[in-house]
Amino acid sequence: MEERTATLPGGTAMPLLGFGTWRLKGDDAYRAVLHTLEAGYRHLDTAQLYGNEESVGRALADSGISRQEVFLTTKFAQHHPGKEHATLSRSLERLGVEQVDLWLMHYPLKDPGEHLAVWDAFLDAAEEGMATAVGVSNHSLAQLDTLTEATGQMPQVNQIRFNPALYDPRLVTGHRARNTVLEGHSPLRKPGLDHPVLTEIAETHNATSAQVVIAWHLAYQVAVIPRSAHPERISSNLHAARLHLAPADIARIDALSRQPSGTARTRNRQGA
Ligand SMILES: NC(=O)c1ccc[n+]([C@@H]2O[C@H](COP(=O)([O-])OP(=O)(O)OC[C@H]3O[C@@H](n4cnc5c(N)ncnc54)[C@H](OP(=O)(O)O)[C@@H]3O)[C@@H](O)[C@H]2O)c1
Repeated sequence: MEERTATLPGGTAMPLLGFGTWRLKGDDAYRAVLHTLEAGYRHLDTAQLYGNEESVGRALADSGISRQEVFLTTKFAQHHPGKEHATLSRSLERLGVEQVDLWLMHYPLKDPGEHLAVWDAFLDAAEEGMATAVGVSNHSLAQLDTLTEATGQMPQVNQIRFNPALYDPRLVTGHRARNTVLEGHSPLRKPGLDHPVLTEIAETHNATSAQVVIAWHLAYQVAVIPRSAHPERISSNLHAARLHLAPADIARIDALSRQPSGTARTRNRQGA
């Protein structure tokens, strides 16, 4: 399997194609993650808020795959400022690991002082070795800059909603300029996998629309974490890493953000 990775500023290799676990619970989460690892994924995305860290950790342990081979992300629910260390300790316990590869602040906090204090605690957690890399989620470029200006430490990853309907080249270049990996969540939601542009491109490559969307993210070096509860889709989404789109395909997909179905872009809470 072809592997595509981003190298985080600290040197950690992050596979660009991972598996998202939101809404997968209990044994469903366990089975999906186990299949994911058997299929060849080496990047898992969970969160304290998903309520499935224990199932993800159990599947990781039962897979027999060595911990070092799997890039593991969890996120801190922003409602608990001041309890970062204890919260991460509990996440590690549920996941059954000594550290995560990436710990993300799930959302920015409204209070600027609290927001900075949480980021400071994240930097401490990285120093203590509880997280190899630290980053944020659902942050604008301006919010990234605020954290960096205050601490001198740029978030290594920003996980934001990103898909063809939300494509904004300023987001791609803005993250690149800051050396922050842009990770897209909810990649398959908009403009819909039945959109004719996606189905046409898929047909020319003998692929699925989901594979086309995932390959489009990878073409931009944007990390992408599609979720599915179905083994055949989990496997087929991974095979998108073998699909190379032509520049003309990429341009057609980019243009979807400028069509009426792309009006969701104005609702992208991260903005540019
Ligand atoms: N940081 C944040 O605030 C945030 C927010 C949202 C999500 N996330 C992360 O991003 C991950 C992905 O986003 P998401 O879960 O919102 O949605 P998504 O991955 O964009 O889409 C998931 C949906 O697509 C369907 N699907 C998957 N593969 C398919 C295929 N090959 N063909 C047809 N349908 C397919 C799934 O249905 P089936 O299960 O029926 O296959 C599911 O309904 C999450 O799981 C989570 O880890 C983070």
